[in-house]
Amino acid sequence: MAERSRLFIAGGTVVDATGERRADVIVGPEGTIVAVGEGLAAEAAGADRTLEAGGCIVAPGLVDLHAHLRQPGGEQAETVLTGSRAATLGGFSAVVAMPNTSPSIDSAAMVREVQELGRASLCQVEVAGAITVARAGERLAPMGEMAALGVRLFTDDGKGVQDAGIMRKALQYASDLGVRLAQHCEVDSLAVGGHMHEGEWSSRLGIPGIPAEAEEIMVMRDVALSRLTGAPVHFQHLSTAGSVAIVEAARRSGVRVTAEVAPHHFTLTDESCASYDTRFKVNPPLRPADDVTAVRAALARGTLDAIATDHAPHTADAKDLPFEEAPPGMLGLETALSLALTELDLSPAEALALLSWRPARIAGIDDSHGGPVEAGRPANLCVFDPSAVWTPDSGGGASRSRNTPYVGRRLRGRVRHTLVAGEAVVVDGEVQR
Ligand code: DOR
Repeated sequence: MAERSRLFIAGGTVVDATGERRADVIVGPEGTIVAVGEGLAAEAAGADRTLEAGGCIVAPGLVDLHAHLRQPGGEQAETVLTGSRAATLGGFSAVVAMPNTSPSIDSAAMVREVQELGRASLCQVEVAGAITVARAGERLAPMGEMAALGVRLFTDDGKGVQDAGIMRKALQYASDLGVRLAQHCEVDSLAVGGHMHEGEWSSRLGIPGIPAEAEEIMVMRDVALSRLTGAPVHFQHLSTAGSVAIVEAARRSGVRVTAEVAPHHFTLTDESCASYDTRFKVNPPLRPADDVTAVRAALARGTLDAIATDHAPHTADAKDLPFEEAPPGMLGLETALSLALTELDLSPAEALALLSWRPARIAGIDDSHGGPVEAGRPANLCVFDPSAVWTPDSGGGASRSRNTPYVGRRLRGRVRHTLVAGEAVVVDGEVQR
């Protein structure tokens, strides 16, 4: 961890779950917030560094429930360190690293290895463990061992747990351990061989499709299993109107489900695949406009819990293949906040609820992330200019990969500074190490 100093965040507007107020913020060298209030300049006289925040929002750091950091095994595409740089440039002070690495994160030894890499990175890295051994869906992974190391979220992401009996057992086990299962909802037998959404565009393009029902059937099943076991289920990257409706109905009836949406599912449609550009290939696939509208409306109603990036870096070589051969996935960490601010009809506080305090609770890290910006709290903070306009370019950002579909798109809202445990890891839009 780099040396910390006393920091003065000057002239911003603090926005957190308690409201909005003009305030300066002083951060102490021990990594906690020391003072919050207007006109703190005199008190900040001893600060080692001033971070200008005029015109900016000073918020709790963002928390991503869904990042593929690719280590071990996929270092050509991303490492925990490069992924953490991308995360902090995007305003995230914590990310949950997915376990679909090579080998999978399905044991205490693998968890330790990635936790170690996380400690040397720029943000807090929470490791998600696999639900089943090698994510093969057959035998339960040793969740107890992994939970003992602090793992709070388990998923076979990249695949759904196909067998209802195994999922039921996993939920009972998770419930006993006090951890949460997250599901990649996709019924393999319906999705197999598909490369985009099954509908008008897949027919026109001659690309085999994946029906919306491949996702929705597993959402329905897991709502039922959550009811049966009493254990919470978190649904990852929901993408269809049907999934949203099922989740809303389940919540109304008191079932303990939570759900996230990825930025590409509220900003892009399956029509993008007409370019055969593999940057638009992702799983779950981009859906038609009606689904995008339904997802956006649910975010506006507040019935979904989080925006999670599904940051999925792939090398240029891997993506430079015919559409049906290229791997699914797109970058997300550096553009998520801007896409939410640009595309959704939400106030900054509503966008931050979905990107910070609500996901912090789901990740089980709300003791250190997403809490109010007040004296005594850990200084995990994101300072962004809500009116700055920028355009991602093909040179890419801090990720080791370049597979973003947003090159050339005008975005509003840009991260200026990110603090992680009191360290200014991004200053004026530049990563500091
Ligand atoms: O598009 C995707 N890419 N969806 C997934 O579920 C996995 C991810 C990846 O790991 O590349």
